[in-house]
Amino acid sequence: MKILITGGAGFIGSHTIRLFVNKYPQYQIFNLDSLTYAGNLENLQDLETKTNYTFIKGDITDQPFIENLFKKHSFDGIIHLAAESHVDRSIENPMQFVLTNVIGTVNLLNAAQQQWAKDSEGKRFYHISTDEVYGSLGKEGYFTEETSYDPRSPYSASKASSDHFVRAYYHTYKLPVVLSNCSNNYGSHQFPEKLIPLCIHNIKNSHPIPVYGKGENIRDWLWVEDHARAIDTIFHNGKIGETYNIGGQNEWTNIDLVKLLCGIMDRKLHRKSGTSEKLITFVTDRKGHDLRYAIDSSKLQNELHWKPSLQFEEGLEKTVGWYLENEDWLNKVTSGEYRTYYEKQYTTR
Ligand code: NAD
Ligand code: TYD
Repeated sequence: MKILITGGAGFIGSHTIRLFVNKYPQYQIFNLDSLTYAGNLENLQDLETKTNYTFIKGDITDQPFIENLFKKHSFDGIIHLAAESHVDRSIENPMQFVLTNVIGTVNLLNAAQQQWAKDSEGKRFYHISTDEVYGSLGKEGYFTEETSYDPRSPYSASKASSDHFVRAYYHTYKLPVVLSNCSNNYGSHQFPEKLIPLCIHNIKNSHPIPVYGKGENIRDWLWVEDHARAIDTIFHNGKIGETYNIGGQNEWTNIDLVKLLCGIMDRKLHRKSGTSEKLITFVTDRKGHDLRYAIDSSKLQNELHWKPSLQFEEGLEKTVGWYLENEDWLNKVTSGEYRTYYEKQYTTR
């Protein structure tokens, strides 16, 4: 099997690539990534010597490039993770989200459709999406696969649009697609613009912890390696044309989560209990801030027998441990130094 994974230098992509390269030595795994600010090849340094792994630098919005790539390789599967992924950036610059998330996805769909037009037996285009496409919940209820789409940020609108295109290619051209919509992920190698690594970084440096609004918004957190395992399960066993929701059954208000994190950091940094909580600073709320996301993942659990493996407290301990042990990674990412890694490592080869 030749599998193209897009966005493999990012957070979830790097965990997915690692799982596939190590678990399936008989597969050829191609990582296509344009290395935006969120793409960091140091995330995959441990795989550089693996013979079943190839990195390709390229942009999914570049149609001729994508066409040529598919002329050069015939892929059996595509796992599409490349995206602009940060809600706050989407509020600042929606167009970049339209380009990457919508146009980039349609470029890949076209290339796959052309490649598999004559014979799509055993082929599969797997699109990775988010629970944010379903909108915002009140205090009750869960998102199921039947929940109507109601995206409310430019990020979720662009992801919703890409999901619609993927389903349209299934219905119109019989492209063998499968989709999943996942809740918030946490774990190692996440870019420190997202809540958990941002808090860890700020607490470590005794900087204020910015909590939007009153910190009452609720997210359902999933250990990133559990997401990668779900991707493996759905890629291999998911039914063509179907969607699977993935979630952690693990809801936290932002303020409770930040306080939990503060306690873990105090302990790990040998600071007096309560030291880090003093850094909590309530700041202006995000525009259009969705109140609550919560996933019902019973379809995936019942039909494909996946379930989350880690309790949140344990996962958060591990996550904090990783960021503290990998201070160098965090420093390079926050200083921008990681951006020179590709030049040093790849352009001289
Ligand atoms: P990320 O921002 O960490 O990584 C995105 C990767 O895509 C980066 O390596 C970046 O360089 C690459 N990329 C961006 N634009 C590209 C382009 N035009 N061409 C090629 N590569 C490009 O994102 P993430 O958090 O790992 O999310 C991965 C996927 O999972 C996204 O599709 C996202 O919508 C989805 N998702 C994320 C979460 C979450 O909590 N992070 C939850 C559910 C779903
Ligand atoms: P984030 O990690 O950006 O994920 P998403 O917006 O996709 O859910 O944010 C998680 C929650 O934390 C969200 O409700 C916004 C909030 N938040 C803060 O309160 N402060 C911050 O500095 C950030 C980045 C997020």
